[in-house]
Amino acid sequence: MRKKTIIANWKANPTTNDEAKTLFKAEVEIASKYDSVQTVICPPFVYLEPLSTLHSSSTHLGAQDMYWESSGAHTGGITTKMLLDLGVKYVLIGHSERRAIGETDEMINNKLKASLEVGITPVFLIGEQEHNDAIRQDIIVDQLTRGLEGINPKYADRIFYTYEPSWAISSKSGGRADDTEGIVSGIELVKQVVIKHFNLQSITYNLLPILYGGSVNGTNANQILSLPQVSGVVVGSASLDPDRFEKVLYEITA
Ligand code: PGA
Repeated sequence: MRKKTIIANWKANPTTNDEAKTLFKAEVEIASKYDSVQTVICPPFVYLEPLSTLHSSSTHLGAQDMYWESSGAHTGGITTKMLLDLGVKYVLIGHSERRAIGETDEMINNKLKASLEVGITPVFLIGEQEHNDAIRQDIIVDQLTRGLEGINPKYADRIFYTYEPSWAISSKSGGRADDTEGIVSGIELVKQVVIKHFNLQSITYNLLPILYGGSVNGTNANQILSLPQVSGVVVGSASLDPDRFEKVLYEITA
């Protein structure tokens, strides 16, 4: 069985190299105590290089975004080649905070293709903006279908599909984790759409990694991760403090 995966999304934090190193070292140390789960840390781009030298076998490095061309006249672009060179193994693609500033399904699709081609695991985030069951299905179907357009079905189980409704993100006003029923139904919906999209056989779809994100913390991690449908979680604010991060890992392995 695949290990459950905890993905720390630091977002635009912390603001200095020294703080990033201190936080990273503490989290690598914590992760080494809980090796029954797989830990991925996604710092801002500028810290990837210094952190790549501190990195140990207990954690993988992830990026929070990427550009889809391998090099060339793309000002500001950070490419898969650059990420691979630093040992980056995962990349977040389609986070709602990037969609909110103009990232389109077409850009997401390009990024998914480029990361899969070089063997960086894409953590493909999808989810509705408002807590409203009536719109959820349409949005998830739409984001998945457009994002996965033209992707070879051989990659179907290499993508870490992540159901992360943006209303559930802790920094949103009133942000709170979805309840168990909502998480399971969101994940089942993602699974059904992916199976249909790639026309998968039952044997493959049981292996699809589907994660949840949105206000995961030390209080709810055990309940969420013990759901058999959940392959892992994306953790934002609770990954910015070593004690809070350890509580998440402790709870899911308890
Ligand atoms: P949160 O963030 O854990 O603070 O809700 C998760 C995310 O935005 O990926």
